[in-house]
Amino acid sequence: MDVTILGIESSCDDTSAAVIRNGVMLSNVIAGQKVHEAYGGVVPELASRAHQQNIVPVVHEALKQAGINKEDLSAVAFTRGPGLLGSLLVGTSFAKGLAIALQAPLIEVNHLQAHVLAHFIKKTESDDQHPRFPFLCLLVSGGNSQIILVHRWDKMEVLGQTIDDAAGEAFDKCAKVMGLPYPGGPVVDRLAKEGNPKAFRLSKPNIPDYNYSFSGLKTSFLYLLRDELQKDPDFIERHRADLCASLQATIIDILMQKLRKASDDFNIKEIAVAGGVSANSGLRKAFEEHADTYGWKIHIPSFAFTTDNAAMVAMSGYFKFLNHDFASPDCVPFSRTAI
Ligand code: KG4
Repeated sequence: MDVTILGIESSCDDTSAAVIRNGVMLSNVIAGQKVHEAYGGVVPELASRAHQQNIVPVVHEALKQAGINKEDLSAVAFTRGPGLLGSLLVGTSFAKGLAIALQAPLIEVNHLQAHVLAHFIKKTESDDQHPRFPFLCLLVSGGNSQIILVHRWDKMEVLGQTIDDAAGEAFDKCAKVMGLPYPGGPVVDRLAKEGNPKAFRLSKPNIPDYNYSFSGLKTSFLYLLRDELQKDPDFIERHRADLCASLQATIIDILMQKLRKASDDFNIKEIAVAGGVSANSGLRKAFEEHADTYGWKIHIPSFAFTTDNAAMVAMSGYFKFLNHDFASPDCVPFSRTAI
């Protein structure tokens, strides 16, 4: 029997709906929210309102692109958290309403686990490019930086995580002080291609285990700009590419150093990356270099699955459906949690 799952994602500023049948993606529709650009960051209240406007047309389009009717759905999966509570409430309420109307099971999905499980989305029936268990996943986004040991699809262990800012936040905040638009990560990535990654020395954290910290780097970047701007008011304009290249190289060094440690300590060479920052070209290159140097079998998501998307939610929902792991209609979203 076919298992057809509708996934709904609304944890931050992307409204997304996707259909997965037997693990194969049939559609993945994402509506971004331009409204936040003027504010230099996501405004939670505006995000909730935009989700409210987008959710019906986005779900409609996902069903249409998949070529199915809503009655064909085996279950409705939704992101329960972590994320912005007001945003999550829109997707959660919609999913509940639809599941009740269709008399279909409801499945709650953890957004962070979904990023990891995006690696299992099949493009075709015969696609088996997914990571083999156990594997390590570097999850790097605007809100998280974690190294996760994935034992099974439903058993994940967070080995380490950031104790302050996430990697994406470090990109975005440093970009902001350079006067670059939000989100700064992709802009830094683009400008870094023209710059010298060794032009500026920035601070790297010295913290134990597999944890990360990016606040020291952010401060050292800020102090560098402050000191140099006193000598030359055009410092940023003159050195923008070198600043971006040095910043990006430092963030990547910090990320890869701990990942290498985890790979050595656990003797795992099956390594994946997920989350918004996994779109970064320098990080992708570092993964490829590590594959060559250390014999890692790497798994880098296609760009469509780096940002928030509902295909990963539908995929997680598919696994849970097979396990009969259904949610109660009175479950409520949560804003913060470990995996
Ligand atoms: O996973 P994601 O889409 O959502 C949130 O965590 O909200 O991640 C967004 C983050 C932002 O910080 C953004 O600047 C960063 O991912 N990002 C990048 C790149 N593309 C997106 N950072 C560096 N290089 C990129 N190419």
